[in-house]
This record gives sequence, C-alpha cells and structure tokens, in this order.
Amino acid sequence: MKLRSTLMACAMAIAVTGLGEAAHADDVKEVQMLHWWTSGGEAAALKVLKDYLAKKGYAWKDVPVAGGGGEAAMTTLKAMVAAGNPPTASQILGYFAIDYAEAGKLADISELAKKENWAKVLPTALQKFTTTNGKWDAVPINIHSVNWVWINKAVLDKIGGTEPKNFDEFLALLDKAKAAGVIPLALGGQPWQEATMFDSVVDSTGGTAFYKKAFIDLDDSALKSDMMKKAFDNLAKLRAYVDPNYAGRDWNLATAMVIKGDALVQVMGDWAKGEFRAANKEAGKDFVCYRFPGTDGTVIFNSDMFAMFKVPADRRAAQLALAEAAMSPEVQSGFNVVKGSVPARIDVSDAAFDACGKKGIADVKAANEKGTFVGSLAQNSAQPPSVVGAYDDVVTKFFHGEIKTSDGAVKATRFGADRGEMRVMPHPAPLNLFQSVRTLTFRR
Ligand code: BGC
Repeated sequence: MKLRSTLMACAMAIAVTGLGEAAHADDVKEVQMLHWWTSGGEAAALKVLKDYLAKKGYAWKDVPVAGGGGEAAMTTLKAMVAAGNPPTASQILGYFAIDYAEAGKLADISELAKKENWAKVLPTALQKFTTTNGKWDAVPINIHSVNWVWINKAVLDKIGGTEPKNFDEFLALLDKAKAAGVIPLALGGQPWQEATMFDSVVDSTGGTAFYKKAFIDLDDSALKSDMMKKAFDNLAKLRAYVDPNYAGRDWNLATAMVIKGDALVQVMGDWAKGEFRAANKEAGKDFVCYRFPGTDGTVIFNSDMFAMFKVPADRRAAQLALAEAAMSPEVQSGFNVVKGSVPARIDVSDAAFDACGKKGIADVKAANEKGTFVGSLAQNSAQPPSVVGAYDDVVTKFFHGEIKTSDGAVKATRFGADRGEMRVMPHPAPLNLFQSVRTLTFRR
C-alpha cells in the first residue's frame, strides 16, 4: 500500500514537470555555468540568457575563465570534472563535447529534446555534437563562422578600397592601407587566433573541396600537397601587414583597433561583431563585414554549445531550465543579435538582425544545402582536440618564424595519416580528456 502511494506521488510529480523528471521543493534554483565569454560583446550576449533565466526564477552562478577560444576554460573544466565537481553546464566546442560524452560525464536530456522537437530544428551537422548514441547531452546556442573580415568603413573609404574578392585583392587592399600609414591587419598573435585565420586562408587558397580533404578527411596527400604549401605561403604574406606589438594580443583588443580606426581589418569569427555592437557601431555605416576573400558561399563553422554534466538530482531541474532557455526561439534571437552569431535553430526569424547577421543566416542555409557548411579545424569542429593542438602548434610556429618554410610546415604537420601514436584514440575516450593531449600529439 505504502509502495503504491509512493509510486502514485512520483507519477504525479512527473506529470507536473511534463519532462519525466520530478520537481522538488528543495531543488537548487541556481545554474552554475562555465564559459569564456568575458569580452564586452560576449558579456552583453550572456546577459540575455541570464535575464531570461532570472525571469524563470533561476539565479546565475558565473564561472568565467578568460581567454578567447576557450583553451583556459577547457583546462578549468577538466579539473572540475576530475575533482567530481562539474558545473551544471559548460560552454563547449564540437569534439570536446563528444569526448566528455564518451567518457560518460554528460547527462541525458533526451526527454526534453524530444518534447521540444530539437531534431527537426537544428542542422544535422550540429546534432553530431549534441547527441551521443542517440541521446541528447548538449544544446547549441548559436552558429559562429570564422571566415569573415571586419573592416573599418571610414578607413576603407579613405583609402578608396572596395570588397576584395580573392586573396590577391586582399593583399592589394592591405597594401593600400599600409601606403596610407594605417596598420593594415589587426591580429592577435596567439596560436588559436592564427590557426583560426589559417582555416580561412586554406579555404581561400585551395577551395572548399580541398579544405574538406585536408581538414575533415585528414587526407595526407592534401595535407602534404603543393596546395597546402601555397596556403602556408599565403599565410606568410600576411605577416607583412601586422604591427610590431601583435604577439600575444587578445582578439578583442585587435577588434578594438579596427573599431577605433587604428587598423583597417581583422580576420576573425563573427564574435568580433559583438564588440562593434557593444561599442555602438553600426554595420554598413561604421564597419563592413565581408566573407574572407575567396570563401564566399562557404561557412566554416563552430557552435557554442552547453554541455550538460551529470549533476546531483537537486540540480537537475535548473539544468533542464538552462537547456530550455538556450533553445528557446526568444533567447536564440536575442542572444545572437548581440553576440554576432547566427541562431542554431533554423526556424528563428532574421528580422531582428543587422545586415551582417542577415547575411550570416542566409549563408548558413545556402551552405547547408550546397555541402559547403564545414567545421572549423581551429575551433574544434572538424577534429578532436589532440589534432587541433597539433594544428595550432604548426601554424603558430610557422607564423612566428620558428618553422621557416612552407615545406617545413607541411613536414611538421603530423596530424594526417602519418600521425603515429596519435591515431590511436582510445574509446571510450577518458584518455583523451585526462592525459596531456599535446604530449600524445608529437610522439611518433
Ligand atoms: C567561441 C566564441 C567566443 C570566441 C572568443 C570562440 O571559440 O565560439 O563564442 O566569442 O571564442 O572568445
């Protein structure tokens, strides 16, 4: 009898949430989230999500880890998970989510996913990262893409520049800025930024079929090809346009150089647009956005996802509230308008977005249909973290002159078929998470 009434109470609680999860009075009404959104534009976007959750009665416990691209954040996350103290959720990129899922660290949110029909509204390319063995364990709040250039309009007009359509035209534009005494290229010389720029250079140099062969298939004949050498040679050409203080500069400080008109252009993912917006700058008037010359029609994407960790039962309701919030059309529009990205949901209207945002949304749709929607290698959306570590390393050593020639660069590229020990990715993959992947990378 007692058992029966307990069962009935449980059934009623389940009916109340509608998610197959019981809501309890002592549930923790707080979301603890790890992220690396610490720049002005990023913080403004995050506020949209925090405000939405506050309206639903959830407090926000911030776990910010400064450092663009998320490298430092991933180190903190690894430590928290290893200590058995994971956050409710963490901002995460592509293959990192797969690693945590395969290591058994992520929670199952399939019930909510089914109820909300997420499978129908998200591009399948993203679902590869949000589901594991058919179970949902992460939600994507956006789609970013890396193949953009951000240009100060007043400087562009002053030097009489127009949209560069290919790499040579890009160099010609940079030369004009140089001749006018303006820093042509605002760059942050950190490995992840240089690698992120190189994604675009490779696509521009070799085309998207080549990008896919090299970076998605890791085909050695492409990775070691003359075309790849040409891409490195093109990258080397860009060195001539940066200022002497570029090494180690944060990405948003490079964006600020363009915002202020100290520099003409930054090559950066569309999170840069969040900084223009935070500085009250208007697309088309104060700045212009073009696809990286020679890559129009292709979207080299990454997506900020929230990986849902296995948390104690009393933190589960807050976790589901966060997932629901991130996937709500209201937040997907509001957040991405401010962030510079495109909604991950394909059914969100572009009405609230500026010209760059509208182009971003249209580009994703077109690229998705054409087969030119490709994961960014630098942004962990094409290969596992160990490969990305090796990629960053080669690109940055080359850009800073430690590797002297493009021939040397392709020879040092050991993430293709000849990657020796690194090829052995144990599954399930806790090794990948809890061992130094960089050490693995270069051992042959
Ligand atoms: C993330 C963006 C973030 C950028 C700079 C990227 O990896 O996807 O959301 O704004 O890093 O921090």
